[in-house]
Amino acid sequence: MFRFKNLAFLVLILTLALTACAAPEAEVGSSCAPNCEYTDMVFCYPQLGAESDWRTANTASFKETAGDLGVRLIFSDAQQKQENQISAMRSCIQQEVDVIGLPPVVEDGWETVLTEAQDAGIPVIIVDRSVTADNSLYASHIGSDMVLEGQRSADEMNRLLPDGGKIVELSGTTGSGAAVGRAEGFRMNLNDNIEIIDSQTGNFTTAEGKPVMEAFLKKYGDEIDGAFIHNDNMAIGAVEAMKAAGLQPGDIKIVSVDGTRGGFQLMLDGWVQADVECNPLLGPQVYAMALDLMNGKTIDREVLTDETVYYPEQAGELLPSRKY
Ligand code: AHR
Repeated sequence: MFRFKNLAFLVLILTLALTACAAPEAEVGSSCAPNCEYTDMVFCYPQLGAESDWRTANTASFKETAGDLGVRLIFSDAQQKQENQISAMRSCIQQEVDVIGLPPVVEDGWETVLTEAQDAGIPVIIVDRSVTADNSLYASHIGSDMVLEGQRSADEMNRLLPDGGKIVELSGTTGSGAAVGRAEGFRMNLNDNIEIIDSQTGNFTTAEGKPVMEAFLKKYGDEIDGAFIHNDNMAIGAVEAMKAAGLQPGDIKIVSVDGTRGGFQLMLDGWVQADVECNPLLGPQVYAMALDLMNGKTIDREVLTDETVYYPEQAGELLPSRKY
């Protein structure tokens, strides 16, 4: 009897020791599950920057919705630097937030910090652009289908240049899911009689888009029939360069992406012939997904935003009610 008691004690000690050494498992749900409310949520959003009107609208969507719902938002601006986004994520992990929403500036290089979040039991929702990391490292990706946006852009360019021609591409941030996807989709659908004679990045900003177009115009002159521009802010910069070079609206056919007020104005003024929508207003959907995660519910691994293409004929009517 005495020996049995000793053995039972030993088994208990061993069990406790093994439990303490086991690798921590990712928690499913928060301590308030299954009744967590938005007011229980601490949500981390390490925004990638403020490079465009699209980004400003995306930030506003997260801030305003958090205010409306009572979510405590930890927001930061990484100024288009991946290392800043990673530091901000680490700070949020330390603060034991409930959920992280990550809009990744580039696709590669997220494995380590995503693993750190997973080990800490904090689910990550990838927002807007995609990552190349294995999808077991994050809860979901919600955003636009960037390849489809590229395909739609090519369809518009094919329509605008039925007899073919030479075009230039002003690409978004190098290595970003948005730029990679749009470039890929565009090449998938572009007609064989249209040649992309040059492609340079303008980093999704007006300030960098303008000199890129200036350089294109200097190098190729009136050889350029069309321009595929990965966002409206770079289109604004490109049009400034075209005006300075004495070009008229329509001399170069432009297909842009985003559907911001600035893009609509360019359509009204005759400079842009089609604007492929990319919707930044993701706050409400992302917070709803985050709440489901806190309550231990499963969410879709991939959620693609429903989008369209806008044309100059609609611009006048739609511009006054555009939210961004
Ligand atoms: O990832 C979405 C893209 O990023 C938008 O097209 C662009 O305007 C933004 O900077």
